Amino acid sequence: DDPSADPFEVAAQAAAQLAEVTGVERHDIALTLGSGWAKAADLIGETTHTIAASDIAGFSKPALEGHVGTLRSILLPSGKRALVIGARTHYYEGHGVRRVVHSVRTAAAAGASTMILTNGAGGIKPHWTPGTPVLISDHLNLTGDSPLEGATFIDLTDLYSQRLRDLARTVDADLDEGVYVQNRGPHYETPAEVQMAKTLGGHIVGMSTALEAIAARQAGMEVLGLSLITNLAAGISPNPLSHQEVIEAGRDAEPVISALLARIVAEL
Ligand code: 6GU
Repeated sequence: DDPSADPFEVAAQAAAQLAEVTGVERHDIALTLGSGWAKAADLIGETTHTIAASDIAGFSKPALEGHVGTLRSILLPSGKRALVIGARTHYYEGHGVRRVVHSVRTAAAAGASTMILTNGAGGIKPHWTPGTPVLISDHLNLTGDSPLEGATFIDLTDLYSQRLRDLARTVDADLDEGVYVQNRGPHYETPAEVQMAKTLGGHIVGMSTALEAIAARQAGMEVLGLSLITNLAAGISPNPLSHQEVIEAGRDAEPVISALLARIVAEL
């Protein structure tokens, strides 16, 4: 939170603490598991360490029910190491974008070259029934903010790696894809805002991921983005949205989509 602190130094410090606690010098891939995706952590490999994120530099306490505040070091069958981030800070919490992307920068500082970002989100395509997993092909960052500070000009072409999307489709050829719209939240969109997002080329609406993806690209990581459609967006569905239903849809879909993600990770 200290504006004079260098966010990359805090991330390096967090990565050093992780290495010290786990004895693992280097993590190869990192996963941020959003609503509905958490079970993947139990399926991808053997968890050797579970750490309260609040014990690590720069991390905050979880703000929401269903958001687990832990970091896990997982040994994959391939011998690679995964860092699972179950402690996402959302932009709507109001702590600023540095806190939002700190976990991504920590993963990069810990050595990860692949960043898998997952979330639960609203669907704009009516045929996406709740429980549908969708690959993120690109994003519209409508937060008005950026994790980059100063004159840091970074190309975001192919931000959501075509190579990793192709690889995901070798696991599930039916995976659809769409453009993710990050709104600030925490309110859901109005039907008019959903129509605006659709007109602008968006297909999925949510409150995370885009800012994290930008930070991951800045750190030189390859990014895979996956959304679980927990509900149709306002006005697409005739029914009003409820946070409880979003949580429940995530819970119902969790076994299937977590298994899907585990199979994707096994292919990396
Ligand atoms: Cl409809 N909108 C946003 N912004 N986030 C969501 C959502 C909708 N459904 C789940 N998460």
